Amino acid sequence: MSEILKIAAVTKKFDKQFALSNVTFGLNEGEILGLVGPNGAGKTTLMKIIVGLTRNFEGKIICNVDRKIIAPAEKLFGCMIEAPKFYPYMSGYQNLKFFSSLNGKLNKKNLNDIVELMGLSNAVKKKVKTYSLGMKQRLGFAQALLNNPKILILDEPTNGLDPNGINEIRKYLQKIAFENKVSILISSHTLSEIEKICQRAVVLKKGKAIEIIDMQEKTYEDTIFAFETNETDEFLALLKAKNIVIEDVGEGIIKIRLPKEKLSSFIKDVVLKDINFTSVYEVRKSLEDKFLDLTGGNKIV
Ligand SMILES: Nc1ncnc2c1ncn2[C@@H]1O[C@H](COP(=O)(O)OP(=O)(O)OP(=O)(O)O)[C@@H](O)[C@H]1O
Ligand SMILES: [Mg+2]
Repeated sequence: MSEILKIAAVTKKFDKQFALSNVTFGLNEGEILGLVGPNGAGKTTLMKIIVGLTRNFEGKIICNVDRKIIAPAEKLFGCMIEAPKFYPYMSGYQNLKFFSSLNGKLNKKNLNDIVELMGLSNAVKKKVKTYSLGMKQRLGFAQALLNNPKILILDEPTNGLDPNGINEIRKYLQKIAFENKVSILISSHTLSEIEKICQRAVVLKKGKAIEIIDMQEKTYEDTIFAFETNETDEFLALLKAKNIVIEDVGEGIIKIRLPKEKLSSFIKDVVLKDINFTSVYEVRKSLEDKFLDLTGGNKIV
């Protein structure tokens, strides 16, 4: 797997305050990488640095793309950072034409395809000032995709989109990542969405990349098992006797932490004690659980 973009020891100060300190990670070709973190963690600042909107920083952004292999109609970066800005008195179409021409030759067929893909065929004729939040967001996507970028930087792109829109865009991003090897860095506070679309996610906290979570990883250090039982008292007594860590006790469900290899012997103990249970299953921690563990709940900066 080749690394197409490297964020190397990036540090950014605003006055004396560090917005980013020593952030290092890589983006692989064709990968969709999540960027998550509480408000003020530094996500937008980092994305602006990556695409060159912010030039004053320490560290390096290294692109391992041979510019010669990029076709003339392609540019390296496409981005949508914070609320997309358009000329309100121009139509959506005029805006797209304008931005497209800034980045090279206008490819009308490509433009029309993207407009249709974003469900904007009718809306593009109207002035942008009449657009709803979601329509502006769709236009922002269209702009980011216009020149077939090799790397897409998307800052909270699904804000304001309806569930249908989110679904379509997720499928489209997965398609271009897989088929065209486009590499995508995407930030969002909707962690379930990040979990669906990304292979890995970088967790930023107070300007530091504190962890890279691999979403494909099946085994976490602690495996949590849920037992469904209506004999909770007996079950809890057994857990106590065996010194097993209780994760959670709910209505008819007890969650415990146990190394995987000890599960069968624990189940034997349960059976020997004649405690009934109707189901046992492994509980995977969601990205949201991990995020809360790592970032300490709702505390920001
Ligand atoms: N232009 C600026 N001048 C001064 N401080 C700034 C500026 N832009 C950002 N910051 C500060 O840098 C830190 C990181 O902000 P940033 O916008 O990157 O966070 P974020 O992770 O994108 O947050 P959110 O989830 O709210 O979008 C914050 O402390 C913020 O106050
Ligand atoms: Mg932000």
